[in-house]
Amino acid sequence: MREISGDPYVDLLLRAILNEIYLDPPLPLPFLRRKWRRAGFDVAKLRATGQDWPSVAHSMIGRARMENLRFCVETALDDGVPGDLIETGVWRGGACILMRGILRARAVTDRTVWVADSFAGLPPPDAAAYPADAGDLHHTMADLAVPLEEVQRNFALYGLLDDQVRFLKGWFRDTLPGAPIGQLAVLRLDGDMYESTTDALRALYHKVAPGGFVIVDDYHVVPGCKAAVHDHLATLPAAAQPEIREIDGTGVYWRLPAV
Ligand SMILES: C[S@@+](CC[C@H](N)C(=O)[O-])C[C@H]1O[C@@H](n2cnc3c(N)ncnc32)[C@H](O)[C@@H]1O
Repeated sequence: MREISGDPYVDLLLRAILNEIYLDPPLPLPFLRRKWRRAGFDVAKLRATGQDWPSVAHSMIGRARMENLRFCVETALDDGVPGDLIETGVWRGGACILMRGILRARAVTDRTVWVADSFAGLPPPDAAAYPADAGDLHHTMADLAVPLEEVQRNFALYGLLDDQVRFLKGWFRDTLPGAPIGQLAVLRLDGDMYESTTDALRALYHKVAPGGFVIVDDYHVVPGCKAAVHDHLATLPAAAQPEIREIDGTGVYWRLPAV
């Protein structure tokens, strides 16, 4: 049993988003069956590191990556890093709901949580432009398409749908370059593919404030995602190369130097 280690509201919110309370079973997807069996049909074990796609819970990123997100947001707030918070690739919205809840817990009223998604799943691969995405099947997965209205309803269920939450609906290539976002304190990337990762990095990386955080959810599980990260970092000077830190064997994060 985990002890409460911070704000009890945020602790309970995190448990609720992951549905650690009632532990719904994973979606019965063929490619998840092996993990499910290997975990001894123990949902808590799967959800600790986000190895299942929950049938009910509002996020699939699991406890370790959710705690990492909490750490990044709370540290940015503690240290006065300026800027908003964004996730690109939100599914049912859980990670963004946690970010909004942390702002609520601290009575922060001057920052926005940006919620960027097609709300219709992933784009078909454009292998000519992004060879790393050739053969990618994410666009065929209907379970990844969660309508905007459903995500908004999820925010409302927690009492966290208000004007500090702004939705960017559409493909990242269309919505992110012109989005009215100033600075970012936390940039969380969860779009799986090379294209989705590179589109977000190109449009938003330069907006991350000194001392801000970048989180890449799929770094170790989608080779195209990792390639997009390193292709982008290769465009930056040596002094801007980050120290990439591990989260749970799936995701990574880093912090920009505070100038
Ligand atoms: C793995 S899910 C995100 C999981 C989520 N972060 C959570 O907490 O459970 C990936 C999401 O990215 C979105 N997505 C991926 N590529 C996209 C793109 N290029 N443009 C818009 N949405 C995209 C999909 O619609 C899907 O909702």
